[in-house]
Amino acid sequence: MRIRVPGDKSISQRALIVAALAEGRSRIAGLLHGGDTESTARALRALGVPVPTIPGDGSEVVLEGVGLDGLRPPNGRLDLGNSGTGARLLMGAVSGIEVEARFDGDTSLRGRPMGRVIRPLRALGARVDAVETPDRLPIVVRGRAGLSPLEWESPIASAQVKSAILLAGLTGRTRVAVIEPWVSRDHTERMLRVVGAPVSSRKTESGWRVELQESQGRIDPLDLSVPGDFSSAAFVLALSALGAAGGEVTVERVGLNPTRTGFLDVLRRMGADVRVDDRTLDDTSEPVGDVVVRPGVLKGTEVVAAEVPGLIDELPLVAVLGACADGEVRISGASELRAKESDRIATVTKGLTGLGVAVEELEDGLVVQGVPGRTLRGFVEVHHDHRIAMAFSVLGAATGRAIRIDDRAVSDVSFPGFHELLTRVAGDRD
Ligand code: S3P
Repeated sequence: MRIRVPGDKSISQRALIVAALAEGRSRIAGLLHGGDTESTARALRALGVPVPTIPGDGSEVVLEGVGLDGLRPPNGRLDLGNSGTGARLLMGAVSGIEVEARFDGDTSLRGRPMGRVIRPLRALGARVDAVETPDRLPIVVRGRAGLSPLEWESPIASAQVKSAILLAGLTGRTRVAVIEPWVSRDHTERMLRVVGAPVSSRKTESGWRVELQESQGRIDPLDLSVPGDFSSAAFVLALSALGAAGGEVTVERVGLNPTRTGFLDVLRRMGADVRVDDRTLDDTSEPVGDVVVRPGVLKGTEVVAAEVPGLIDELPLVAVLGACADGEVRISGASELRAKESDRIATVTKGLTGLGVAVEELEDGLVVQGVPGRTLRGFVEVHHDHRIAMAFSVLGAATGRAIRIDDRAVSDVSFPGFHELLTRVAGDRD
């Protein structure tokens, strides 16, 4: 079976923001038409950018950029819904412009830590104030033209923090450097290089260093075709590995950025048969290819801290795969999971426990004892978290179709059409 998944969420969000700040007309095909991109598009419109409606079929969008100084003060608050990427990256972009904006989001986003972006943005010279609860949305950003140079050592590997700082450096016309303990996804760096911003990165003794030199005051428009989202593909690949797709599955034209594909290594270690056919074209900044997975007998594995940034969003899926593996799946060094759309360590532990799976919750991860071939039955609360909903839906499809979840629609945040695809891939094989 050959399938495609919707456009990459991280790249779609960045494409909208970068195209908005560019001078001239960007053309972007394959944008994700999901809850998070809708939120970012809406916020950009409120900031005066003429972002057209994002089509549901991935057809090309033409976006006329307003330039690095072109964002305008919004009339009301900027509601970023569920999107941590949209909120944090836009807070960065606004910081270097003479604009005041109040950022807000849904209950999940209001609960997520924002101190990690507030601190560097203040150090750059923007005024950033949490108005109700320290380090949480709602937050008012009062940007300033001409920020101070910054060298920021981040204790966590976070692409959102790194990107917020880079975008602030870009609009605030200053030099910024971010040092992370491990490399986080590098879509922002790749995209900024394509549009002519002077970004470089290298490994150093203290970690991974990304630098933006003071820019010339403008960036070029984008001409981009967004690849399929590897994080969405992962759910389909897992179905295939578990034998729930009735055979081999190929996910076509999916993004294969090496900072994102750690899940393939884990799948291989667990015994799945994984093949990658690279299709990258010379003129794209992001590697793209087809991934083929065949069913296998899965066994336990261990995921440690250094690997975590490369599969951070796939860890709930690795944990539920653990329930079907022969042996133990141990994930550690992943306390960042507690800062996602839900506390993913707690929600996965609770979900699996409720299904009768033996799980040990760790401060920074979890340990799952698998039993292959068992029917799993029960009800799972997904805490409004799209990836938790999809991970347990995959588990249900592979273990007897007796798992119910409380919120199926939440998968639209990143993967519209997920349930239809699940039915198509695994549906008629009872
Ligand atoms: C994202 C970065 C990651 C990831 C999130 C998307 C991005 O978050 O979990 O789903 O687009 O930059 P962190 O930067 O908080 O690690």
